[in-house]
Amino acid sequence: MKPINVGLLGIGTVGGGTFTVLKRNEEEITRRAGRPIRITAVADKNLELARSVTGGDVRLTDDAFSVVTDPEIDIVVELIGGYGIAKELVLKAIENGKHVVTANKALLAVHGNEIFAAAQKKGVMVAFEAAVAGGIPIIKALREGLSANRIQWIAGIINGTTNFILSEMRDKGLPFAEVLKEAQRLGYAEADPTFDIEGVDAAHKATLMASIAFGVPVQFDKAYVEGITKLEAADIKYAEQLGYRIKLLGIARRRPQGIELRVHPTLIPEKRLIANVEGAMNAVLVQGDAVGATLYYGKGAGAEPTASAVIADLVDVTRLHTADPEHRVPHLAFQPDQIAEVRV
Ligand code: HSE
Repeated sequence: MKPINVGLLGIGTVGGGTFTVLKRNEEEITRRAGRPIRITAVADKNLELARSVTGGDVRLTDDAFSVVTDPEIDIVVELIGGYGIAKELVLKAIENGKHVVTANKALLAVHGNEIFAAAQKKGVMVAFEAAVAGGIPIIKALREGLSANRIQWIAGIINGTTNFILSEMRDKGLPFAEVLKEAQRLGYAEADPTFDIEGVDAAHKATLMASIAFGVPVQFDKAYVEGITKLEAADIKYAEQLGYRIKLLGIARRRPQGIELRVHPTLIPEKRLIANVEGAMNAVLVQGDAVGATLYYGKGAGAEPTASAVIADLVDVTRLHTADPEHRVPHLAFQPDQIAEVRV
C-alpha cells in the first residue's frame, strides 16, 4: 500500500527516538496505521547529525521551508521547539495542506488558537500528544477515553525536571542548584531550564490539557504560574515531618466563573498515590463526572517515550487522512467561534 510521507523538522533526541521506534516496530505501526509511515525528508541545521541518525536514506536539508512546501509530504512533524521559526513553519505547513504533529507545548500554549483556527480552515489536523506528559497518552484520554464525561478537574505532575529535583532534594538533602545541574546532564530539562523550574513548562502543558478537557481556547497568559526556585531542602524536610510531600502541580478546574488554571508547589498527603511519583516521572489525575477519578502515570520526557506519542499521532493522522474526508473525526478541542471565557 502507498506509504504516507512524513517530513521531520529537527533531529534532536525525540527525532532520533522517532526513527528508532518507527523502524523497530514497523510491522505493528503499519498494521495500526493501515499503511506504511515513511520519513522521507528531514530538515536540521546539523546535517552531519541528521545523516548519522537517519543513515542517509532520506532527503536531508538545512532548509526547513523546502520540507513544509514539498508536495510529496503529507505530514510535517515539528520537533524544533520554541515560538519563533517553529510557528512560521507550522503555519506554512498548514497553508500547504499538510497535517502537523508537534511536541511543541510552548508554541501551542501561546499561539494555539491561531494555529488551530488555520488548521480548521484548511481541513488539516494538528496533533500534539507528545506536547503533554511525554509518553502518557493523556491528550487521547481526555479527548477520546473520557469523552462521555464532564471533566471537573485535572491535577498533574507534568514536568519531569522539577519532580526529579524535588525527589533528589528530599532523598539526598541536596541543594536545588546541584540537582538542577544533574537534571540538565540527564537531558530532562528544557533548552532554557528556567521554563522548567519557574513552572512555565508545566503551565504550557496544563493550558493544553484545559483546552481539550473543557473545550476552551488556549489561554496561557491567564494562568497563575509559580515554580520551585524558592523551595529549600528544609521546606521539603518539614513537609515530610508533617506527613506531606511537596509536588509541583499543574491544575485546571471547572469553576462557576470559568476555568481556573494554575501551577505551583503543593503539599500532598504522603499516602496519596500521586505524592509517591518520584524522579522524572509524570502523573495526571483527572476527575470526570461519570468515571470518577482516573490516574495516568509514565515517563514524561526522553527520546523513546516522547517518540511513542509522536508516532501514535502519526498513526492517528494516517488513519484519518486515509478516511473519507466527509467522515473524519474533528481533531480540534473546540470550535474557534464558540469561545468560553477563562478566568483565574
Ligand atoms: N523539560 C520537560 C520536563 C521535558 O522536564 O518534563 C518534557 O516536556
